[in-house]
Amino acid sequence: MDFRIRPPKPDDFKDVFRMVTELSLLEKSPDLQISREELKQDLFCETPFLQCLIAEVPAYCKTWEGQTTVAYTLFTNAYCTWNGRAVYLGDFYVMPECRGKGVGRALLSTVAKVGKEQHCAIMLTEMRGNTPLIDFYIAKGGEDLTVTERRHFLRFDGDALDKLAQEAPQCT
Ligand SMILES: CC(C)(COP(=O)(O)OP(=O)(O)OC[C@H]1O[C@@H](n2cnc3c(N)ncnc32)[C@H](O)[C@@H]1OP(=O)(O)O)[C@@H](O)C(=O)NCCC(=O)NCCS
Repeated sequence: MDFRIRPPKPDDFKDVFRMVTELSLLEKSPDLQISREELKQDLFCETPFLQCLIAEVPAYCKTWEGQTTVAYTLFTNAYCTWNGRAVYLGDFYVMPECRGKGVGRALLSTVAKVGKEQHCAIMLTEMRGNTPLIDFYIAKGGEDLTVTERRHFLRFDGDALDKLAQEAPQCT
């Protein structure tokens, strides 16, 4: 199947958001915690918070529903003093009818290329039950740090984040 990988333009945002929604349904968490406007702003503002790549097929390969944008990934910068720079891969999604045709491999390789240009490794977390995606990453050479380094992945958000922030000393 012919396709090309490229960063999205603002006109592509409707397709990116459509696939964000499809992915959230796939992960059985349909209530997105961000709004369409927030995501658009983070992607297309003057200093974007996120990087994005999409896979686009020619019109003759469009999906049954007529879409030509069939996959996307979102990633952002991360840093760790052990390993230095990394890109943190958030979303990674290939539409079901376009799977098994090399799109996922090309998308991940392009993230690796972009990462290498910026001297970055790739980091990501995945839900325990999502074995197809974990197997895909491992097949592509990813190291499962939960196995090799017994790492935990933690988050401060909501009340816990509010409480912590309220306890911060005044900056002088
Ligand atoms: C996993 C996924 C990304 C693979 O994309 P794809 O386009 O179907 O994969 P490709 O056709 O590019 O296959 C790439 C390679 O990975 C391998 N592969 C694909 N799925 C695999 C799996 N489940 N287990 C092991 N290897 C797998 C292929 O055999 C292929 O190997 P090769 O490079 O040696 O030929 C895709 O199925 C997907 O989007 N799944 C749902 C995503 C999801 O759950 N996201 C939630 C987290 S954000």
